[in-house]
Amino acid sequence: MADVAVQSEGRSSGIVINDDWPGYSLDLFNYPAHYSGDLDCVIIPHGVIMDRTERLARNIMDDLGDHDIVVLCVLKGGYQFCADLVDRIKALSRNSNRTIPMRVHFIRLKSYLNDQSTEDLHIVGAEDLSFLAGKNVLVVEAIVGTGKTMQTLLKHVEAFRPKMIKVAGLLVKRVPHNSPCLPDYVGFEIPNRFVVGYALDYNEYFRDLNHICAISESGKTKYKI
Ligand code: HPA
Ligand code: MG
Repeated sequence: MADVAVQSEGRSSGIVINDDWPGYSLDLFNYPAHYSGDLDCVIIPHGVIMDRTERLARNIMDDLGDHDIVVLCVLKGGYQFCADLVDRIKALSRNSNRTIPMRVHFIRLKSYLNDQSTEDLHIVGAEDLSFLAGKNVLVVEAIVGTGKTMQTLLKHVEAFRPKMIKVAGLLVKRVPHNSPCLPDYVGFEIPNRFVVGYALDYNEYFRDLNHICAISESGKTKYKI
């Protein structure tokens, strides 16, 4: 019985990290020495990201396991999550008699300067997505804030008439004006603060950090453009 309750819960907003979560002290983990002083705390350790990703892979497999899918990886921030998620789906396929043929396509979105979202969203590599027609598409995003970026992207993808679109988002931020358009598969719901690591950047820095961390004020100043 307990198992059933856990299973349905795992599909909602993901693991909720509350606003008063102080994070883990950086001293408890290894992280690149070149970022010392640039971070406040570890919000989500790498191992927890991996464990949650493994469960998301199972949920995706349960829902989509009977069809082949086209994975649409949203770069740059989504590369690590996408690689690990695809890896876990492949592992599940290997260990069961259900396999999903997967194609992976990459598109790039850019809308952030420093820690602020800018109005002009650039989509690169999505000019001709006509191969998505009639396919099951899994969009893989690292982080969803207001959801505006996601909405713009989904509108663009829908124009190519896929059979179905599902979205996997590792992080969903609790921002004041969250759009109703939330990912179908959510790793974690996090407070409205700027996070870096696990391929998430601040002006291209911190992608080489395994844990998801809060950037410090001095880190922001150091890498500001
Ligand atoms: N960190 C990195 N990139 C982002 C974030 C964030 O918190 N929000 C939107 N893009
Ligand atoms: Mg970025």
